[in-house]
Amino acid sequence: MQFRHLPILALASLVAAQDSGNSTQSLNATLAGNDQLSNLTSFLSLNPALASALSQASEITILAPSNDAFTEFTDTDVGRTVAADPGLLSALLQYHVLNGTFQASQVTNQSAFIHTLLTNETYTNVTGGQVVEAVTVGNETVFYSGLLQNSTVTTADQNFTGGTIHIIDRVLTLPPSVLEAALALNLTSLYGALNATDSIDAATTRNITVFAPNNEAFNSIGSALANLSTDDLQSILEYHIVENVYYSTDLANGTTLQTESDDQDLTITTNENGTVFVNAAEVVVPNVLIANGVLHIVDNVLNPSNTAAPSASATAGAPGFTGSPASEQPFTSGQPTPTTQVDPSSEGAGPAQSTAAESESSGAAAPRYTGVEYVALVGAGAAALWGF
Ligand SMILES: *[C@@H]1O[C@H](CO)[C@@H](O)[C@H](O)[C@H]1NC(C)=O
Ligand SMILES: *[C@@H]1O[C@H](CO)[C@@H](O)[C@H](O)[C@H]1NC(C)=O
Ligand SMILES: *[C@@H]1O[C@H](CO)[C@@H](O)[C@H](O)[C@H]1NC(C)=O
Ligand SMILES: *[C@@H]1O[C@H](CO)[C@@H](O)[C@H](O)[C@H]1NC(C)=O
Ligand SMILES: *[C@@H]1O[C@H](CO)[C@@H](O)[C@H](O)[C@H]1NC(C)=O
Ligand SMILES: *[C@@H]1O[C@H](CO)[C@@H](O)[C@H](O)[C@H]1NC(C)=O
Ligand SMILES: *[C@@H]1O[C@H](CO)[C@@H](O)[C@H](O)[C@H]1NC(C)=O
Ligand SMILES: *[C@@H]1O[C@H](CO)[C@@H](O)[C@H](O)[C@H]1NC(C)=O
Ligand SMILES: *[C@@H]1O[C@H](CO)[C@@H](O)[C@H](O)[C@H]1NC(C)=O
Ligand SMILES: *[C@@H]1O[C@H](CO)[C@@H](O)[C@H](O)[C@H]1NC(C)=O
Ligand SMILES: *[C@@H]1O[C@H](CO)[C@@H](O)[C@H](O)[C@H]1NC(C)=O
Ligand SMILES: *[C@@H]1O[C@H](CO)[C@@H](O)[C@H](O)[C@H]1NC(C)=O
Repeated sequence: MQFRHLPILALASLVAAQDSGNSTQSLNATLAGNDQLSNLTSFLSLNPALASALSQASEITILAPSNDAFTEFTDTDVGRTVAADPGLLSALLQYHVLNGTFQASQVTNQSAFIHTLLTNETYTNVTGGQVVEAVTVGNETVFYSGLLQNSTVTTADQNFTGGTIHIIDRVLTLPPSVLEAALALNLTSLYGALNATDSIDAATTRNITVFAPNNEAFNSIGSALANLSTDDLQSILEYHIVENVYYSTDLANGTTLQTESDDQDLTITTNENGTVFVNAAEVVVPNVLIANGVLHIVDNVLNPSNTAAPSASATAGAPGFTGSPASEQPFTSGQPTPTTQVDPSSEGAGPAQSTAAESESSGAAAPRYTGVEYVALVGAGAAALWGF
């Protein structure tokens, strides 16, 4: 009886021998040959045009969620919603494909922002394709996606003829609109201020950088904000929005950034500890990816009429306005409160930052926020918010 297996074993070892000579297989064969990737194959087969395009592509890197990652993702109403929305599923899969072949060894402890094949304007307005942040954390290769969510490489460098595959432990999170990000990150004053100035078009404008004051920043100058006209509030907000996408790696000392507020500039100052200031405000959480660019959380509201630089010895940001706390958190009246939140100060939200200690002032611990929960927001709110 045992003999019957011999030819098969012999054949298998022959194939293995050939593989060691040239192990580069097609994408389809590589996916089919990895039993951790059968869910990815299933999802790709729901999208034949994408599957076919990928199988013919060259110079790509696929961040391939394992079956466990997909199971976690789809084991909720939300995951099922995504799976049932071909457009959203397709966008999510495109977001998992990097434009270029990146071996894991090319990822370093300096963040890199790598364009993906997600270019559809329904989901992104980042020229060249939405990005992921690639960085090593300790001995691991990590990709950060929307809302500071991370995916860690569990098996790297599965080469195929068109590039390479890294198997990751969590499905990436599509970067949401600036408004959804503001809600999820508990930037509720910013959210309310954006809503109050209804001509603001930051939600969809192509290629922007938003310097996003946290709630403490708004609250600390509540009295100065209380009687602003809508026009004044709008020009203050526009002073926080820069035309073009500047990730942390682009914020070099002395850089000036043109804002949407009457072409007034912001100035970047960095000190020897690597702390980054925009005018006199400190960037406390950088690189929150959003649908149309990037958002950096800052610890003070910026004032177009006060462009003072930080003092040479500054260890935190300085206010751009003179004011005192209001009794109520500014601009939050009548605004939605998110049911799930990312606490940017909590461990694991985003790569370790030299400025992390300062950002811990945000108070009560938030519940951990997962990519799965996030998609609940997308499913429920995306259309309304993107049309905002
Ligand atoms: C292996 O085969 C693939 C496709 O058949 C080819 O593109 C690649 O260059 C080969 N690699 C080596 C090292 O021969
Ligand atoms: C995902 O993989 C698991 C096995 O790990 C399997 O039970 C499940 O049916 C797969 N789902 C899809 C959609 O392929
Ligand atoms: C790979 O598989 C997809 C379907 O999953 C198919 O559309 C495509 O033609 C295949 N590519 C090749 C080169 O066989
Ligand atoms: C972009 O996404 C929308 C919504 O899912 C879809 O209708 C459209 O066909 C997509 N465009 C392209 C070029 O794939
Ligand atoms: C990938 O990047 C190259 C430039 O490096 C660009 O020409 C090409 O259009 C990009 N591909 C996609 C699908 O965005
Ligand atoms: C978007 O950004 C790119 C650089 O990343 C720039 O070349 C392009 O002109 C920008 N597009 C718009 C509409 O601003
Ligand atoms: C990283 O190191 C930890 C323990 O130090 C180990 O458990 C883990 O497997 C390592 N990861 C990789 C990708 O080597
Ligand atoms: C994948 O390809 C790269 C570059 O060609 C090579 O350095 C690496 O050893 C290959 N990895 C495997 C697992 O064959
Ligand atoms: C991208 O820009 C287009 C045109 O302005 C707009 O219709 C679309 O909603 C924007 N998409 C996103 C995700 O912001
Ligand atoms: C904007 O604020 C009003 C109350 O002023 C509120 O009813 C509305 O829901 C808010 N819009 C969004 C998109 O949150
Ligand atoms: C990734 O996220 C998980 C849970 O959200 C967290 O426990 C972990 O520390 C994070 N890892 C990194 C490297 O950011
Ligand atoms: C959100 O911000 C409000 C106002 O600053 C604060 O009271 C609340 O504790 C914050 N929530 C979380 C989860 O950090």
